[in-house]
Amino acid sequence: MTRSLSAVESLLAARLGLDVSSLSPDATKRAVERRSLALGLDGPARYLGRLLDDPSEWVALVEEVVVPETWLFRDGGPFDELAAFVRSRAGSPSARSIRILSLPCASGEEAWSVATILAETGVSPREATVDAVDVSPRLVEAARRGIYGSGAIRDLEALPRTEAFRPVEGGLEIRPALRPYVRFHVGNALEYEAPAPPPCYDVVFCRNLLIYLTPEARRRVTNRIDGMLRPGGLLVLGHAEAFSTFFPSYAPVPRPRSFAARKPEAVGEPARPRVPARPAQRPGSVPAASGSRPAAERNHGRHRPPPPAAPAGEELLVLARRLAGAGERASVERLCAEALAADPVSVEAYLLLAETALAAGDERRAEARFDRVLYLDPRHEGALLQLARLRERAGDGDAAGRLRGRAVRAARAIP
Ligand SMILES: C[S@@+](CC[C@H](N)C(=O)[O-])C[C@H]1O[C@@H](n2cnc3c(N)ncnc32)[C@H](O)[C@@H]1O
Repeated sequence: MTRSLSAVESLLAARLGLDVSSLSPDATKRAVERRSLALGLDGPARYLGRLLDDPSEWVALVEEVVVPETWLFRDGGPFDELAAFVRSRAGSPSARSIRILSLPCASGEEAWSVATILAETGVSPREATVDAVDVSPRLVEAARRGIYGSGAIRDLEALPRTEAFRPVEGGLEIRPALRPYVRFHVGNALEYEAPAPPPCYDVVFCRNLLIYLTPEARRRVTNRIDGMLRPGGLLVLGHAEAFSTFFPSYAPVPRPRSFAARKPEAVGEPARPRVPARPAQRPGSVPAASGSRPAAERNHGRHRPPPPAAPAGEELLVLARRLAGAGERASVERLCAEALAADPVSVEAYLLLAETALAAGDERRAEARFDRVLYLDPRHEGALLQLARLRERAGDGDAAGRLRGRAVRAARAIP
């Protein structure tokens, strides 16, 4: 694989969280080829340059690589569980403000299915809202349109519920009465901020995203979801995404094939399933991802959120360092700026920016950036020595001497 192609893959991992090995072999290569062809660019190196310099090209590449697979009432069980959850709240004050997140929502089938359940359970759009988010602007636009062809119905059991749609030319359109429930947004799961202070969601659908993500991106997304979901809230994952892996302290709901679990009520309190602990299982039914484990194993007794994510932007800096070695200064500046937006006190980003300025012969800028490194890490030996050299060249021998003295003391202080 060429260095440029692997740089594109690193960018997809850093910005989108995409683990390219989760796609078919050569998927990125083919995506880059298609985009290069569309732009009339010759080879992945040229394409990488364009990708880094043109934010709209980033969006176009995302559209090429995302997997949009979804359908109405997908898997069935999660929507029965949602209905049970909403009914269990009937009459309580919390019934008047139910907030649900569908992330990722793809072309909207999941969010409209949720809205159908809300209407079915007698909850009005003033009492319940659905935030539906996806990174693909094209899919979000389709979601807002809410018109689906026959491919959106794959489960005969879902047919009665499709009454929420009206026939139009080319398929089914969501009925106007359901529209006020859902608000669609374009957003990245790695950075998604809920519109209200967290934890604000009673239910989160995060299905068929984690399977495509890098370990680091999975940590970031699971942390965010855990932070946004209210204690006692309902989380639904995809059928291949096990709670035991991603949310070990959540209590899987025993309803077969619901792929749902409850967040513990409070820190330090065991999570309790709301439905009978051992329901009769339908013959031949498959248990939810981790629902078959013994209750004691499932409910560790303490709510442990997923482990903290590594600092954001780290992968961008790995890529930036690689590109710095190849002399791609403009790309390095861009990536460091992006990494600093995620982590404004990144010593590594300022150091890389300083070295890039130095390599470009811009000593004033390099000095300012090395100063920034020292501000964040006063004993940074490399920055002290570089600054000493720059001061010396500027004719300020005293300052250079003081900086070298600091570098020596910093080096001695390191065990
Ligand atoms: C397979 S679909 C899942 C849709 C729906 N949740 C379902 O299970 O039917 C995966 C979706 O994830 C979206 N996606 C991928 N990476 C994302 C990210 N970092 N942030 C938000 N959405 C993302 C894609 O655009 C795609 O629409």
